[in-house]
Amino acid sequence: MPIKNNMTTSMLSSIPAVLGGAPIPDSPLPFVRPLLPSLEDLHPSYSEIFQNGMVTTGSNAEKLGEEVARHLGTDFAIAVSSCTAGLILAIQSLNLPKGSEVIVPSFTFMASGLGPVWNGLRIRFVDVDCETMNVDPRRVEEAIGSNTSAIIGVHQFGNPAPIDSLQAIADRRGLALLFDAAHGFGSLHRGRPLGGFGRAEVFSMSPTKLLIAAEGGIVATNDPETAYHLRIGRNYGNPGDYECLFSGMNARMSELHAIMALHSLEGLESAALHRNRARDKYVERLSEIPGIRFQKIAEEDRSSLKDFSIVVDEEFGLTQRQLEESLKAETIQTRVYYCPVLHKMQAFRCFAENGMDEWLPNTLYLESHALSLPMYSNMQDREIDQVCEAIERIHANASAVAARFS
Ligand SMILES: Cc1ncc(COP(=O)(O)O)c(C=O)c1O
Repeated sequence: MPIKNNMTTSMLSSIPAVLGGAPIPDSPLPFVRPLLPSLEDLHPSYSEIFQNGMVTTGSNAEKLGEEVARHLGTDFAIAVSSCTAGLILAIQSLNLPKGSEVIVPSFTFMASGLGPVWNGLRIRFVDVDCETMNVDPRRVEEAIGSNTSAIIGVHQFGNPAPIDSLQAIADRRGLALLFDAAHGFGSLHRGRPLGGFGRAEVFSMSPTKLLIAAEGGIVATNDPETAYHLRIGRNYGNPGDYECLFSGMNARMSELHAIMALHSLEGLESAALHRNRARDKYVERLSEIPGIRFQKIAEEDRSSLKDFSIVVDEEFGLTQRQLEESLKAETIQTRVYYCPVLHKMQAFRCFAENGMDEWLPNTLYLESHALSLPMYSNMQDREIDQVCEAIERIHANASAVAARFS
Protein backbone atom coordinates (compact mmCIF):
# COMPACT_ATOMS: atom_id res chain seq x y z
CA MET A 1 0.00 0.00 0.00
CA PRO A 2 2.67 2.60 0.91
CA ILE A 3 4.50 1.71 -2.35
CA LYS A 4 1.37 2.32 -4.35
CA ASN A 5 0.84 5.64 -2.52
CA ASN A 6 4.41 6.61 -3.31
CA MET A 7 3.94 5.77 -6.95
CA THR A 8 0.80 7.84 -7.08
CA THR A 9 2.57 10.79 -5.49
CA SER A 10 5.55 10.62 -7.83
CA MET A 11 3.31 10.15 -10.87
CA LEU A 12 1.25 13.13 -9.79
CA SER A 13 4.35 15.24 -9.20
CA SER A 14 5.39 14.73 -12.82
CA ILE A 15 2.13 16.23 -14.11
CA PRO A 16 2.28 19.98 -14.76
CA ALA A 17 -0.30 22.04 -12.87
CA VAL A 18 -1.83 23.13 -16.17
CA LEU A 19 -2.77 19.46 -16.73
CA GLY A 20 -4.10 18.94 -13.19
CA GLY A 21 -0.92 18.33 -11.13
CA ALA A 22 -0.15 20.23 -7.94
CA PRO A 23 1.76 23.53 -8.36
CA ILE A 24 5.46 23.16 -7.61
CA PRO A 25 6.08 26.21 -5.36
CA ASP A 26 4.78 25.92 -1.80
CA SER A 27 3.61 29.52 -2.08
CA PRO A 28 3.04 31.61 -5.22
CA LEU A 29 6.08 33.23 -6.79
CA PRO A 30 5.38 36.81 -7.92
CA PHE A 31 7.17 38.28 -10.91
CA VAL A 32 8.91 40.94 -8.79
CA ARG A 33 9.45 41.23 -5.06
CA PRO A 34 10.82 44.72 -4.33
CA LEU A 35 13.59 44.70 -1.73
CA LEU A 36 12.70 47.79 0.30
CA PRO A 37 14.77 49.39 3.06
CA SER A 38 13.47 48.47 6.53
CA LEU A 39 10.92 50.77 8.12
CA GLU A 40 13.14 51.08 11.22
CA ASP A 41 16.00 52.39 9.06
CA LEU A 42 13.74 54.98 7.42
CA HIS A 43 12.09 56.05 10.64
CA PRO A 44 14.63 58.63 11.96
CA SER A 45 14.75 60.51 8.63
CA TYR A 46 10.98 60.40 8.21
CA SER A 47 10.52 61.63 11.81
CA GLU A 48 12.79 64.55 11.06
CA ILE A 49 10.91 65.72 7.97
CA PHE A 50 7.57 65.21 9.70
CA GLN A 51 8.82 67.48 12.47
CA ASN A 52 10.34 70.20 10.29
CA GLY A 53 7.64 70.01 7.61
CA MET A 54 10.14 69.83 4.72
CA VAL A 55 8.44 67.02 2.82
CA THR A 56 9.61 68.38 -0.53
CA THR A 57 12.39 70.71 -1.83
CA GLY A 58 14.53 69.74 1.16
CA SER A 59 18.07 68.49 1.53
CA ASN A 60 17.45 64.77 0.90
CA ALA A 61 16.76 65.01 -2.85
CA GLU A 62 19.97 67.06 -3.20
CA LYS A 63 21.89 64.56 -1.09
CA LEU A 64 20.54 61.72 -3.23
CA GLY A 65 21.82 63.45 -6.37
CA GLU A 66 25.27 63.89 -4.81
CA GLU A 67 25.51 60.32 -3.55
CA VAL A 68 24.31 58.84 -6.83
CA ALA A 69 26.81 60.99 -8.77
CA ARG A 70 29.58 59.69 -6.48
CA HIS A 71 28.37 56.10 -6.96
CA LEU A 72 28.17 56.43 -10.74
CA GLY A 73 31.34 58.51 -11.07
CA THR A 74 29.55 61.31 -12.94
CA ASP A 75 29.83 65.05 -12.44
CA PHE A 76 26.08 65.46 -11.92
CA ALA A 77 23.03 63.38 -11.00
CA ILE A 78 19.72 65.17 -10.70
CA ALA A 79 16.83 63.53 -8.89
CA VAL A 80 13.47 63.80 -10.65
CA SER A 81 9.99 62.41 -10.07
CA SER A 82 10.31 59.60 -12.64
CA CYS A 83 12.49 58.32 -15.44
CA THR A 84 9.78 59.36 -17.91
CA ALA A 85 9.91 62.98 -16.71
CA GLY A 86 13.72 62.80 -16.75
CA LEU A 87 13.70 61.58 -20.36
CA ILE A 88 11.35 64.37 -21.46
CA LEU A 89 13.51 67.03 -19.82
CA ALA A 90 16.82 65.51 -20.93
CA ILE A 91 15.62 65.42 -24.54
CA GLN A 92 14.33 68.96 -24.19
CA SER A 93 17.80 70.03 -23.05
CA LEU A 94 19.26 68.83 -26.38
CA ASN A 95 17.32 71.55 -28.22
CA LEU A 96 16.74 69.36 -31.27
CA PRO A 97 15.00 70.85 -34.33
CA LYS A 98 11.21 70.37 -34.05
CA GLY A 99 10.00 67.57 -36.31
CA SER A 100 13.44 66.01 -36.63
CA GLU A 101 13.88 62.26 -36.16
CA VAL A 102 15.12 60.43 -33.11
CA ILE A 103 16.26 56.83 -33.50
CA VAL A 104 14.64 54.53 -30.90
CA PRO A 105 14.41 50.72 -30.71
CA SER A 106 10.87 49.37 -30.98
CA PHE A 107 11.66 46.55 -28.53
CA THR A 108 11.48 48.63 -25.36
CA PHE A 109 9.14 50.11 -22.78
CA MET A 110 6.71 52.79 -23.96
CA ALA A 111 8.43 55.58 -22.00
CA SER A 112 11.48 55.36 -24.32
CA GLY A 113 9.24 56.68 -27.09
CA LEU A 114 7.36 59.24 -25.00
CA GLY A 115 10.37 61.50 -24.45
CA PRO A 116 10.75 62.37 -28.17
CA VAL A 117 6.99 62.70 -28.71
CA TRP A 118 6.57 65.17 -25.81
CA ASN A 119 9.30 67.25 -27.46
CA GLY A 120 7.57 67.42 -30.84
CA LEU A 121 10.05 65.02 -32.45
CA ARG A 122 9.48 62.14 -34.80
CA ILE A 123 10.57 58.58 -34.09
CA ARG A 124 12.52 56.34 -36.44
CA PHE A 125 12.22 52.80 -35.11
CA VAL A 126 15.17 50.44 -35.44
CA ASP A 127 15.68 46.74 -34.83
CA VAL A 128 17.52 45.07 -31.96
CA ASP A 129 20.05 42.27 -31.93
CA CYS A 130 18.21 39.03 -31.20
CA GLU A 131 20.85 37.83 -28.75
CA THR A 132 21.64 40.95 -26.73
CA MET A 133 18.09 42.35 -27.12
CA ASN A 134 19.76 45.75 -27.48
CA VAL A 135 19.67 48.14 -30.42
CA ASP A 136 21.76 46.95 -33.37
CA PRO A 137 24.32 49.63 -34.36
CA ARG A 138 24.22 48.48 -38.03
CA ARG A 139 20.49 49.17 -38.15
CA VAL A 140 21.05 52.54 -36.47
CA GLU A 141 23.60 53.51 -39.11
CA GLU A 142 21.20 52.47 -41.90
CA ALA A 143 18.34 54.43 -40.35
CA ILE A 144 20.16 57.77 -40.25
CA GLY A 145 18.80 60.27 -42.75
CA SER A 146 19.04 63.98 -43.41
CA ASN A 147 16.37 64.67 -40.74
CA THR A 148 17.93 62.57 -37.97
CA SER A 149 18.98 64.52 -34.90
CA ALA A 150 19.52 62.02 -32.08
CA ILE A 151 19.84 58.40 -31.02
CA ILE A 152 18.30 56.95 -27.87
CA GLY A 153 19.97 53.75 -26.69
CA VAL A 154 18.29 51.56 -24.10
CA HIS A 155 20.16 49.25 -21.71
CA GLN A 156 17.61 46.50 -22.10
CA PHE A 157 16.83 44.66 -18.85
CA GLY A 158 20.10 46.13 -17.54
CA ASN A 159 22.29 44.72 -20.32
CA PRO A 160 24.53 47.63 -21.39
CA ALA A 161 23.70 48.80 -24.92
CA PRO A 162 26.54 48.81 -27.52
CA ILE A 163 27.71 52.09 -26.03
CA ASP A 164 31.03 52.45 -27.87
CA SER A 165 29.59 51.73 -31.32
CA LEU A 166 26.66 54.08 -30.74
CA GLN A 167 28.98 56.84 -29.55
CA ALA A 168 31.22 56.36 -32.59
CA ILE A 169 28.19 56.61 -34.91
CA ALA A 170 26.86 59.68 -33.08
CA ASP A 171 30.26 61.40 -33.27
CA ARG A 172 30.77 60.55 -36.94
CA ARG A 173 27.28 61.65 -37.97
CA GLY A 174 27.00 64.67 -35.65
CA LEU A 175 24.06 63.31 -33.65
CA ALA A 176 23.16 63.60 -29.99
CA LEU A 177 23.25 60.35 -28.01
CA LEU A 178 21.17 59.76 -24.92
CA PHE A 179 20.55 56.60 -22.94
CA ASP A 180 17.32 55.38 -21.44
CA ALA A 181 19.03 53.75 -18.46
CA ALA A 182 15.77 52.96 -16.65
CA HIS A 183 17.12 49.46 -15.90
CA GLY A 184 20.71 50.57 -15.45
CA PHE A 185 21.35 50.89 -11.71
CA GLY A 186 23.68 47.98 -10.91
CA SER A 187 25.00 47.58 -14.48
CA LEU A 188 28.65 48.01 -15.48
CA HIS A 189 30.26 48.72 -18.84
CA ARG A 190 33.91 47.68 -18.86
CA GLY A 191 33.84 47.79 -15.06
CA ARG A 192 32.38 51.29 -14.97
CA PRO A 193 28.82 52.01 -13.77
CA LEU A 194 26.45 53.34 -16.40
CA GLY A 195 25.62 57.04 -16.09
CA GLY A 196 28.54 58.79 -17.76
CA PHE A 197 27.93 57.65 -21.35
CA GLY A 198 26.34 59.73 -24.10
CA ARG A 199 25.11 63.22 -23.26
CA ALA A 200 23.00 61.92 -20.37
CA GLU A 201 21.64 58.68 -18.96
CA VAL A 202 18.21 58.54 -17.37
CA PHE A 203 17.47 55.99 -14.64
CA SER A 204 14.25 54.79 -13.04
CA MET A 205 13.77 54.06 -9.34
CA SER A 206 10.30 52.50 -9.46
CA PRO A 207 9.77 49.31 -7.42
CA THR A 208 10.70 46.87 -10.20
CA LYS A 209 14.27 48.26 -10.17
CA LEU A 210 17.27 47.51 -7.92
CA LEU A 211 17.39 51.03 -6.49
CA ILE A 212 13.93 51.98 -5.27
CA ALA A 213 12.40 55.36 -4.43
CA ALA A 214 8.78 54.10 -4.80
CA GLU A 215 8.62 56.46 -7.81
CA GLY A 216 11.58 58.43 -9.06
CA GLY A 217 14.28 58.98 -11.62
CA ILE A 218 17.86 60.21 -11.91
CA VAL A 219 19.40 62.07 -14.81
CA ALA A 220 23.16 61.48 -14.77
CA THR A 221 25.45 63.58 -16.93
CA ASN A 222 28.92 65.07 -17.18
CA ASP A 223 27.57 68.03 -19.12
CA PRO A 224 27.02 71.16 -16.95
CA GLU A 225 24.45 72.65 -19.34
CA THR A 226 22.32 69.50 -19.31
CA ALA A 227 22.54 69.44 -15.51
CA TYR A 228 21.51 73.11 -15.31
CA HIS A 229 18.58 72.51 -17.67
CA LEU A 230 17.41 69.58 -15.55
CA ARG A 231 17.64 71.50 -12.28
CA ILE A 232 15.49 74.30 -13.64
CA GLY A 233 13.30 72.11 -15.82
CA ARG A 234 12.19 69.91 -12.92
CA ASN A 235 11.05 73.12 -11.21
CA TYR A 236 8.65 74.36 -13.96
CA GLY A 237 11.49 76.13 -15.77
CA ASN A 238 11.90 78.51 -12.83
CA PRO A 239 15.54 79.17 -11.92
CA GLY A 240 14.44 80.39 -8.50
CA ASP A 241 13.52 84.03 -9.15
CA TYR A 242 9.99 83.21 -10.32
CA GLU A 243 10.86 84.07 -13.93
CA CYS A 244 9.93 81.02 -16.01
CA LEU A 245 12.65 80.46 -18.64
CA PHE A 246 11.13 77.60 -20.64
CA SER A 247 8.33 75.03 -20.50
CA GLY A 248 9.55 72.83 -17.69
CA MET A 249 7.28 70.86 -15.41
CA ASN A 250 6.96 69.83 -11.81
CA ALA A 251 9.30 66.85 -11.85
CA ARG A 252 10.75 67.33 -8.38
CA MET A 253 11.39 64.36 -6.18
CA SER A 254 9.72 64.54 -2.78
CA GLU A 255 11.80 64.11 0.37
CA LEU A 256 9.90 60.92 1.26
CA HIS A 257 11.00 59.35 -2.01
CA ALA A 258 14.54 60.65 -1.72
CA ILE A 259 14.95 59.20 1.78
CA MET A 260 13.79 55.79 0.60
CA ALA A 261 16.22 55.92 -2.34
CA LEU A 262 19.14 57.01 -0.13
CA HIS A 263 18.63 53.91 2.01
CA SER A 264 18.04 51.68 -1.00
CA LEU A 265 21.33 52.90 -2.50
CA GLU A 266 23.20 51.21 0.36
CA GLY A 267 21.99 47.81 -0.86
CA LEU A 268 22.46 48.41 -4.60
CA GLU A 269 25.75 46.58 -5.12
CA SER A 270 24.69 43.51 -3.13
CA ALA A 271 21.38 43.47 -5.05
CA ALA A 272 23.27 43.44 -8.38
CA LEU A 273 25.63 40.68 -7.20
CA HIS A 274 22.74 38.62 -5.89
CA ARG A 275 20.82 38.90 -9.15
CA ASN A 276 23.88 37.94 -11.18
CA ARG A 277 24.35 34.83 -9.03
CA ALA A 278 20.67 34.03 -9.46
CA ARG A 279 21.08 34.35 -13.23
CA ASP A 280 24.05 31.96 -13.18
CA LYS A 281 21.98 29.41 -11.31
CA TYR A 282 19.02 29.81 -13.64
CA VAL A 283 21.27 29.46 -16.70
CA GLU A 284 23.08 26.40 -15.35
CA ARG A 285 19.81 24.56 -14.86
CA LEU A 286 17.77 25.83 -17.81
CA SER A 287 20.61 25.25 -20.30
CA GLU A 288 19.71 21.57 -20.10
CA ILE A 289 16.31 22.25 -21.66
CA PRO A 290 16.14 22.32 -25.48
CA GLY A 291 14.69 25.48 -26.97
CA ILE A 292 15.59 27.91 -24.18
CA ARG A 293 18.08 30.71 -24.86
CA PHE A 294 19.34 33.57 -22.74
CA GLN A 295 20.05 37.24 -23.27
CA LYS A 296 23.72 37.56 -24.22
CA ILE A 297 25.76 39.83 -21.97
CA ALA A 298 29.24 40.89 -23.14
CA GLU A 299 32.16 39.40 -21.13
CA GLU A 300 33.38 42.85 -20.15
CA ASP A 301 29.96 44.06 -18.99
CA ARG A 302 27.61 43.32 -16.12
CA SER A 303 23.84 43.52 -16.36
CA SER A 304 21.78 44.70 -13.41
CA LEU A 305 19.45 41.80 -14.22
CA LYS A 306 16.52 44.12 -13.72
CA ASP A 307 14.79 41.32 -15.58
CA PHE A 308 15.88 37.81 -16.44
CA SER A 309 14.59 37.28 -19.95
CA ILE A 310 14.64 33.96 -21.78
CA VAL A 311 13.80 33.20 -25.39
CA VAL A 312 11.47 30.26 -25.96
CA ASP A 313 12.33 28.73 -29.34
CA GLU A 314 10.22 26.29 -31.38
CA GLU A 315 12.40 23.42 -30.10
CA PHE A 316 10.90 23.88 -26.62
CA GLY A 317 7.62 22.52 -27.94
CA LEU A 318 5.42 25.34 -26.62
CA THR A 319 5.04 29.00 -27.40
CA GLN A 320 6.09 31.79 -25.07
CA ARG A 321 2.40 32.46 -24.27
CA GLN A 322 1.72 28.77 -23.60
CA LEU A 323 4.70 28.63 -21.24
CA GLU A 324 3.48 31.82 -19.55
CA GLU A 325 0.02 30.26 -19.02
CA SER A 326 1.49 26.95 -17.85
CA LEU A 327 3.69 28.74 -15.30
CA LYS A 328 0.70 30.75 -14.16
CA ALA A 329 -1.04 27.46 -13.35
CA GLU A 330 2.07 26.61 -11.28
CA THR A 331 1.44 29.92 -9.42
CA ILE A 332 4.61 31.34 -11.00
CA GLN A 333 4.11 34.82 -12.43
CA THR A 334 6.06 35.82 -15.55
CA ARG A 335 5.87 38.79 -17.96
CA VAL A 336 5.95 39.01 -21.70
CA TYR A 337 8.30 41.95 -22.23
CA TYR A 338 7.53 43.57 -24.64
CA CYS A 339 4.18 43.07 -26.24
CA PRO A 340 3.01 44.99 -28.12
CA VAL A 341 6.31 46.49 -29.22
CA LEU A 342 6.34 50.25 -29.65
CA HIS A 343 5.76 50.59 -33.39
CA LYS A 344 2.45 48.73 -32.99
CA MET A 345 1.18 50.90 -30.13
CA GLN A 346 -1.51 53.46 -30.87
CA ALA A 347 0.67 56.30 -29.54
CA PHE A 348 3.50 55.51 -31.95
CA ARG A 349 1.82 53.90 -34.96
CA CYS A 350 2.03 57.17 -36.86
CA PHE A 351 5.81 56.67 -37.02
CA ALA A 352 5.57 53.15 -38.44
CA GLU A 353 5.74 53.32 -42.22
CA ASN A 354 4.82 50.53 -44.58
CA GLY A 355 7.32 47.72 -44.44
CA MET A 356 8.08 48.38 -40.79
CA ASP A 357 7.57 44.70 -39.95
CA GLU A 358 10.19 43.61 -42.52
CA TRP A 359 12.53 46.26 -41.13
CA LEU A 360 12.15 44.95 -37.54
CA PRO A 361 12.33 41.13 -37.76
CA ASN A 362 14.21 40.60 -34.49
CA THR A 363 11.86 42.92 -32.63
CA LEU A 364 8.90 40.85 -33.85
CA TYR A 365 10.68 37.60 -33.01
CA LEU A 366 11.40 38.71 -29.45
CA GLU A 367 7.88 40.06 -29.06
CA SER A 368 6.54 36.56 -29.63
CA HIS A 369 9.36 34.50 -28.04
CA ALA A 370 10.86 36.39 -25.07
CA LEU A 371 9.58 35.76 -21.57
CA SER A 372 10.85 37.30 -18.33
CA LEU A 373 11.01 34.94 -15.35
CA PRO A 374 10.79 35.92 -11.66
CA MET A 375 13.92 37.72 -10.46
CA TYR A 376 14.38 39.36 -7.07
CA SER A 377 17.24 41.05 -5.27
CA ASN A 378 16.78 38.48 -2.50
CA MET A 379 15.78 35.47 -4.58
CA GLN A 380 16.36 32.16 -2.81
CA ASP A 381 18.05 29.20 -4.51
CA ARG A 382 14.98 27.16 -3.62
CA GLU A 383 12.77 29.58 -5.55
CA ILE A 384 14.99 29.36 -8.64
CA ASP A 385 14.87 25.56 -8.36
CA GLN A 386 11.07 25.69 -8.22
CA VAL A 387 10.81 27.81 -11.37
CA CYS A 388 13.29 25.56 -13.20
CA GLU A 389 11.58 22.39 -12.04
CA ALA A 390 8.24 23.74 -13.25
CA ILE A 391 9.70 24.60 -16.67
CA GLU A 392 11.36 21.17 -16.87
CA ARG A 393 8.15 19.31 -16.22
CA ILE A 394 6.14 21.54 -18.55
CA HIS A 395 8.73 20.82 -21.26
CA ALA A 396 8.67 17.07 -20.52
CA ASN A 397 4.90 17.16 -21.15
CA ALA A 398 5.03 19.69 -23.99
CA SER A 399 2.83 17.73 -26.42
CA ALA A 400 0.06 17.17 -23.90
CA VAL A 401 0.26 20.78 -22.75
CA ALA A 402 0.15 22.03 -26.36
CA ALA A 403 -2.93 19.84 -26.97
CA ARG A 404 -4.58 21.40 -23.91
CA PHE A 405 -4.20 24.82 -25.54
CA SER A 406 -5.38 23.81 -28.99
C1 LIG B 1 13.00 51.06 -20.55
C2 LIG B 1 12.19 51.95 -19.64
N1 LIG B 1 12.25 53.26 -19.83
C3 LIG B 1 11.57 54.12 -19.04
C4 LIG B 1 10.77 53.65 -18.01
C5 LIG B 1 9.97 54.61 -17.21
O1 LIG B 1 10.37 54.68 -15.86
P1 LIG B 1 9.47 55.44 -14.81
O2 LIG B 1 8.36 54.53 -14.44
O3 LIG B 1 10.39 55.72 -13.65
O4 LIG B 1 9.00 56.69 -15.44
C6 LIG B 1 10.69 52.28 -17.78
C7 LIG B 1 9.87 51.76 -16.68
O5 LIG B 1 10.08 50.70 -16.17
C8 LIG B 1 11.41 51.40 -18.61
O6 LIG B 1 11.32 50.08 -18.46
